[in-house]
Amino acid sequence: MIKKLDKNYWQEFKEIRLEALQKSPDSFLTSFEEESQSPDNIWIEKLENSTHFGYFFNEKIIAFCQLTFEKAKKISHIATLSSMFVKDERRGKGIGLELVNYVKNYAKNNGVKHLYLGCNSQNFTAIKLYKKCGFKVYGTRPDYTKIDNKFYDDLIMMCEL
Ligand SMILES: CC(C)(COP(=O)(O)OP(=O)(O)OC[C@H]1O[C@@H](n2cnc3c(N)ncnc32)[C@H](O)[C@@H]1OP(=O)(O)O)[C@@H](O)C(=O)NCCC(=O)NCCS
Repeated sequence: MIKKLDKNYWQEFKEIRLEALQKSPDSFLTSFEEESQSPDNIWIEKLENSTHFGYFFNEKIIAFCQLTFEKAKKISHIATLSSMFVKDERRGKGIGLELVNYVKNYAKNNGVKHLYLGCNSQNFTAIKLYKKCGFKVYGTRPDYTKIDNKFYDDLIMMCEL
């Protein structure tokens, strides 16, 4: 049900990523306006050069997230979870929980000790999900994002694997 997305999924990935940016603009660091301009090769390269996971239902991606590993040796035990999104109509059914736990296992099996993430401090749904998955708040980045002229703090959360 959950698999790593290779470049062959770029069109489906583009579709759900743009849906995420459009429907949850406060949850991501980039915007629909910025990413919808990206040419095809950027979407293909995005999947080639990163680790994205898709949650499949009836062979369609209904949720996704990204895992970023650090390249420098001294911090190679660190990774970051980002871009978490579950389609509106699929929420509240444990899919987010399953996806985060899958990524935690994947990261652990690939040598990660500390899994980090950043989350808008007003995104109570996501914060609750992450806490349920073992993440703790370690700090706050004040006024980290500015959306429609309003500033939002960002919580730094970490889970020891
Ligand atoms: C945050 C998000 C990924 C949660 O996905 P989901 O599949 O609905 O979450 P789950 O069904 O696995 O719920 C797991 C836990 O999250 C919390 N949660 C989920 N939906 C919630 C809601 N509407 N209100 C409060 N808590 C909620 C609960 O703790 C829940 O556990 P419980 O049902 O036992 O109480 C989803 O709401 C989403 O895609 N939001 C928009 C994008 C976003 O904000 N991404 C996060 C960026 S940091």
